[in-house]
Amino acid sequence: MPIHASPNGWVLETRHTAYAFGLNQAGLLTHRYWGARLPYLADYPAPFDPVHWASTDGFHHFVPEEYPAYGGVKYIDPCLKATFADEVRDVVLGYEDFSVKDSPTPELAVRLRDSYYPLRVTLHYRVHEAYDLIERWVTLENLGADPILVERVFSAKWTMPHGDGYSLTHMYGRWSDEFNLQRETLTPGLKIIESRRIIPSHRAVPWFSVDKNADEDHGDVWFGTLAWSGNFKITAEVTEFASTRVSIGLNDWDFAWQLKPNEPLVTPPAFSGYTPHGFGAASRILHDYVRDELLPHGRVLHKILYNSWEATLFNVDETSQAHLAEIAANMGVELFVMDDGWFHNRNWDNAGLGDWFPDQVKFPHGLGGLIQRVNDLGMDFGLWVEPEMVNPDSDLYRAHPDWAIHFPTRARTESRNQLILNMARADVQEYIIAALDKILSGNNIAFIKWDMNRPASEPGWQDAPGDPRELWVRYVYGLYRVWGELRRRHPQVIWQSCSSGGGRPDFGILQFADQVWVSDNTEATKRLSIQEGFSQFMPAITMEAWVTDWGKELVPLEFRFHVSMCGSLGVGGNLLEWDQAERQLGSDCIQLYKAIRHIIQFGDQYRLLAPQKHAYSAVQYVSKDKGESVLFVFRTHIPDPFNFPVLHLRGLEPGTLYTVEGFEQPRSGAAWMEAGLKVELKNLQSKVLRIKQVS
Ligand code: GLA
Repeated sequence: MPIHASPNGWVLETRHTAYAFGLNQAGLLTHRYWGARLPYLADYPAPFDPVHWASTDGFHHFVPEEYPAYGGVKYIDPCLKATFADEVRDVVLGYEDFSVKDSPTPELAVRLRDSYYPLRVTLHYRVHEAYDLIERWVTLENLGADPILVERVFSAKWTMPHGDGYSLTHMYGRWSDEFNLQRETLTPGLKIIESRRIIPSHRAVPWFSVDKNADEDHGDVWFGTLAWSGNFKITAEVTEFASTRVSIGLNDWDFAWQLKPNEPLVTPPAFSGYTPHGFGAASRILHDYVRDELLPHGRVLHKILYNSWEATLFNVDETSQAHLAEIAANMGVELFVMDDGWFHNRNWDNAGLGDWFPDQVKFPHGLGGLIQRVNDLGMDFGLWVEPEMVNPDSDLYRAHPDWAIHFPTRARTESRNQLILNMARADVQEYIIAALDKILSGNNIAFIKWDMNRPASEPGWQDAPGDPRELWVRYVYGLYRVWGELRRRHPQVIWQSCSSGGGRPDFGILQFADQVWVSDNTEATKRLSIQEGFSQFMPAITMEAWVTDWGKELVPLEFRFHVSMCGSLGVGGNLLEWDQAERQLGSDCIQLYKAIRHIIQFGDQYRLLAPQKHAYSAVQYVSKDKGESVLFVFRTHIPDPFNFPVLHLRGLEPGTLYTVEGFEQPRSGAAWMEAGLKVELKNLQSKVLRIKQVS
């Protein structure tokens, strides 16, 4: 049992790590330890006791409280802020009791209660022992009769071993330029990473890591991510007494929640872990967990898809799509996806969203004919939808203008000519469930790309049952309800999450979607760095990657294929314009991918040389049994002469012999890893080398 309770608190142990907290002499719940698992329970330090510094500083700046609420002499960044019915804005939490549940996954619940008001706060810890991960979330309950206004509620705060000089890594970006890694030293004060757009957004990712001098393969790394597809906040604080802390949770910006009696508020879960083996190991922990525990179909190989978007834009009809489908099938594609443009009155992005039935001009007999042709070619059929949206020029909007998020006295700012439906409303949820259920029930559809192309603005909600600012959270719960219900009714469908590219990539959406469209930027050299960022917390199987025509003047088709083969391969170029040689090359690459995709999609990923830092980069995937591996090497542009670095392979069995394609002699795994190998490439050249154990 990985959960241990003792008089001075709790120790949560995973295979290699431990997390401990407990009650100090003053009865305050404080952090004790987060790091490598120690031999004996008695090894874990006791809870921090209060220390007096001066009248100007409360002890919370030294003493790391496990879940601090705003109240008392406490100026640190709190996890909870609330106002009671009598306007008191001071929360004083004391320990109530705890309970432990063994199965299916061991869970600890520690209950805290305000000393005067009927507010209960339960801290939940679920221990994913085999993955070295701890999942945390919080439940708030109003045990009285009067409402309580919650103004902030985070899912977790973590404290690093005492000291400063830590570095925080996070990701930032913008449309078409997602997942840029930023590593910076944390200094006294508060650093905030957040989203205010109703989606996590391209700008920030609900993931972080904290380290001290770590690199890809070595060093202490603490990391976490919030399973939430909406506004989130990460705060990293270093107090003036060198206590370094990171919190994650719902964003409190423009947020308020009326906590009503008998209606608990449950926060989204945050996953966190520690490894002494660098950033690569931290990523692999998350990759394993995502594949094994989160994805709806995590153990099913992803099919190679073709998507028509870049070829036909909105100009879809049965003939043009069928023509593309024939070429795709000949190349070995397994799933044909028709993107935007197929539904009622959708000829451009200014009309149609909301009316989810086939356009009568483009598809006079419905989608059945095209789907049948695609199926006859031996492929599955997939479809694009954007269910949360409405164009003012649509039957839906004309019937229900009040369904769009808006303030009645303000303009409804359109973005991409569209408004957002209020997913928090039950009638909106029912409409979308019924519309999509009808399409899925009436057609043989194996795959849906679920898009979301604009952030929220003028976030009004006239008939809100609670505080209208609950919208930010209830919207996401509404989305989850709709998607969950559709998944329940159509469990065989594979879903892809897209939000103008990578605007909604998070562990929350992975309950529904098996893959993420990580960027609208499909230019291969840019994609290399986007893919590196994404891989920090998401496994390759979730990363849909198309080969398109972007940059074709410069970047060879083979290079473009190799980049996309590092994830879940797709093709999105205009196949009508590919000549015979290009189609043949595509077909060869698809053949190769089919032979190695189990290693890429199910294996361990090692980032050998990072494309965000180097124009010569490499990434390796190793099968779980270490029997085979595949190495991708890329050179973008480096002026000659170039002194090629030695690539040190990773993840092989040291004492086992392996062959590496292109190298004559088999060598031990230890030799390939320690002595390494050199792969010489010209500018904009790439190589895929298969590595096999000698039997
Ligand atoms: C978004 C997506 C694209 C495509 C278009 C269709 O931009 O990211 O891949 O589906 O919408 O309108």
